[in-house]
Amino acid sequence: MEREKFGSRLGFILVSAGCAVGLGNVWKFPYMCGQYGGAAFIAIYLVFLVILGYPIIVCEFAVGRGSQKSCATSFRKLEPKGRRWHYNGYIGMAGCYLLMMYYTMVSGWMLYYFFRYLTGSLTSQSMTTEQVSSYFSNMLASPGTMILFMIIAVVLSFAICSLGLKNGVERITKVMMICLLGLILVLAVHSCLLPGSGTGIRFYLVPDFTAMQAKGIGNVIFAAMSQAFFTLSIGIGAMAIFGSYLDKERSLSGEALSITLLDTFVALMAGLIIIPACFSFGIEPDAGPSLIFITLPNIFNQMTGGRIWGALFFLFLSFAALSTVIAVFENIISFAIDLWGFPRKKAVICNVFAI
Ligand code: PHE
Repeated sequence: MEREKFGSRLGFILVSAGCAVGLGNVWKFPYMCGQYGGAAFIAIYLVFLVILGYPIIVCEFAVGRGSQKSCATSFRKLEPKGRRWHYNGYIGMAGCYLLMMYYTMVSGWMLYYFFRYLTGSLTSQSMTTEQVSSYFSNMLASPGTMILFMIIAVVLSFAICSLGLKNGVERITKVMMICLLGLILVLAVHSCLLPGSGTGIRFYLVPDFTAMQAKGIGNVIFAAMSQAFFTLSIGIGAMAIFGSYLDKERSLSGEALSITLLDTFVALMAGLIIIPACFSFGIEPDAGPSLIFITLPNIFNQMTGGRIWGALFFLFLSFAALSTVIAVFENIISFAIDLWGFPRKKAVICNVFAI
């Protein structure tokens, strides 16, 4: 079977960047940054991106392009006889399924919050801090709601993948990513213009290594390294497939550089949206995972036009999450195509049930 190809170079960059840009950038990065001391954490994270992240992403693309397969069969195709490189394929496949087990759930939370902002039920100046935080715990205590929104995220993403690489994945992800980049700029400018945001910008941009010592240098280094791996989607072969869709004339190192830069830009901007807003309203940015579900809704409630800013913010998060889900589903679908020669539609249907 002829391997499908992307329609354009921009399509390739935006779909691969869509895989990389996700909850890791817009949810995990800002809260880790808030917890691990701001700019000093960012400096170490950038070092790991350069010395580990970028070279590994080039390798993953090379394996995909060289084999013209997803990670399910790429190592089997490339390895010399009798070697055991193909075990990596099993790790990759397990990694993609395991990741999607919780990723689709958190993506559902983003859609739920977006929906709640649209309907206006989360924005009221009279809502107390406790009410906002119980909103989050009520959602966590309601499996029905979480499963419903998870199913919406899963079905929507598989439906897009079933349309094919060019007409589904590339066309839709391109639109989502362009909207995401537009939203990010609007939200970051708005956040930096809030009164009192200067202290937040300083916390975010000027490294303070003493704050890092308080957390334990080893912990901060480990957190920064794992964040560099997670954010670039490396280590489970998820990026390799996009190498397999890429023409031979393109330079892998050049394309990998564009994707690493775009991914880093989105993470840094997400922090620039969230951290100055926290400081502007006198709230510590160290709440951890609940930062965007409790701290930020409290901030939106105090802001003029909070309902609109909240809706735009969660729309931005939903685009980031869904672009990753679609890209990993594309991997999962192609495992069945590469391993058993399934047609795309059959691979989609089997995986809807598997997930
Ligand atoms: N990079 C994605 C994110 O930042 C997560 C991911 C990891 C996706 C590994 C695929 C593989 O959210």
